[in-house]
Amino acid sequence: MSRKTGIGIIGCGVVGSAVARLILDQGAELSARTGVTLELRHVLVRDLTKTRPLTLPAGILTANHADLLADDQTEIVVELAGGTNQAMAMMLAALHAGKDIVTANKALLALHGPELFAAARSAGRCIAFEAAIAGGTPLVEAVRRGLIANRIDAVYGILNGTCNYILTRMLQDNVGYAHALSEAQRLGYAEADPTLDVDGTDSAHKLALLASLAMQQRCDVQDIPVRGLGDIELADLIAGAELGYVCKLLAVAKRCPDGLDVSVQPTFIPRTHPLAGVLGPFNAVSVYGSVVGHTLFYGPGAGGMPTASAVIADLIDVAIGNARRTFQCIAVLPDQTGPATHRPPGENRMPWYIRLGLRDRPGGIGKVATVLGEQGISIATIVQHESFEADHDDAVPVVVTTRPAKEHALQRALSAMTDLDVVIGRPVWIPVLDKHSE
Ligand code: NDP
Ligand code: HSE
Repeated sequence: MSRKTGIGIIGCGVVGSAVARLILDQGAELSARTGVTLELRHVLVRDLTKTRPLTLPAGILTANHADLLADDQTEIVVELAGGTNQAMAMMLAALHAGKDIVTANKALLALHGPELFAAARSAGRCIAFEAAIAGGTPLVEAVRRGLIANRIDAVYGILNGTCNYILTRMLQDNVGYAHALSEAQRLGYAEADPTLDVDGTDSAHKLALLASLAMQQRCDVQDIPVRGLGDIELADLIAGAELGYVCKLLAVAKRCPDGLDVSVQPTFIPRTHPLAGVLGPFNAVSVYGSVVGHTLFYGPGAGGMPTASAVIADLIDVAIGNARRTFQCIAVLPDQTGPATHRPPGENRMPWYIRLGLRDRPGGIGKVATVLGEQGISIATIVQHESFEADHDDAVPVVVTTRPAKEHALQRALSAMTDLDVVIGRPVWIPVLDKHSE
């Protein structure tokens, strides 16, 4: 006997339309597999006149939020509108009206998760959010339930499909940054405001959620140092490749003796590392557990259908009652844990890549090496290609990699380098991933 569950979706954009399509086209198959029949009752949008990528049965599309709230047979509200203020108000209203929530809105959960989770708890409802981290990859389920036996020591993740797509296309296909970004938008990977993708904010939202779940300490997004793709040029991707590295926007959370070390930044990864082979809109997250050891989760991180796959999994989980029990029993959500203690800034010690423009004069490289030496930083490699065109006052690109050094020593060296008469402009710096001990 199949149980019918009424669904109201807020949003019929990239993800909302894919979820609606799956419910309408594959509902019978899902019902046979799970014993739950998802009944699409409402799809809420702002603009009823817009052309939609699918045709909905009559009476389902609405611009009136009250239609979802007043309908007793709508048991689950799926929030796929995005944004924060209105989405927050709509979620709270749905909880107060007695609905469970499924959402992919990592921005909202990262900024207001504790308040929303607490509101759901006091209303006796649940919020499921598998699609909010790593798109179609079932990572939340794995970290929250599958790895419950573990103290998780570190997570290293490629969490933004748009940035990974841009970095892949720039290097592999020699496509310019702006063109790669517009392709990511056309393919439905980017946020409505793509600045959130490329400046690292979206990865930070996901990391705040993931780190909170994995480390069982509330990691606030404001405490995550973030760098996006802004400083990275094709020249860095090519220079890195020459050295055996691939550049990824990497989100890291690891336990250290002096606190939790969290960051989002472009990072060079050795070509032999499993994360280096993650291409296009794919995401991957390495999770180091105290019992299991190293596990790696890989899958499509963005796009309508992959994200809808995670949303449907949550809908079934809520409909059969699993999600609510997990929500109530497993105390890892950020409304149930204390705030994280963060490692003091600048203490992270890793190898570094530096690219600088050097005047082609005798002694230039020596001055750079001296500045690094004064900060106790040892050089691993220096690469300067001969430039036949540059006259001696033009910048010749020089790439230096270092042995592991603390970030505050690196920053002091970079400031001193910028002041050197032989250095033109501000050096570009990128950390290099050190192997996590297995
Ligand atoms: P889109 O911009 O494609 O779609 C947003 C939809 O929400 C539109 O249909 C819009 O209506 C509707 N909407 C927005 N505000 C309101 C409102 N106040 N009331 C009613 N409807 C509203 O976004 P996406 O589908 O790409 O993303 C949706 C959510 O999923 C976001 O939180 C995003 O971060 C997240 N997400 C997206 C992924 C992706 O790959 N795209 C992957 C994982 C998560 P209208 O069409 O009338 O303007
Ligand atoms: N804009 C996001 C990304 C969507 O590119 O990863 C998935 O969260």
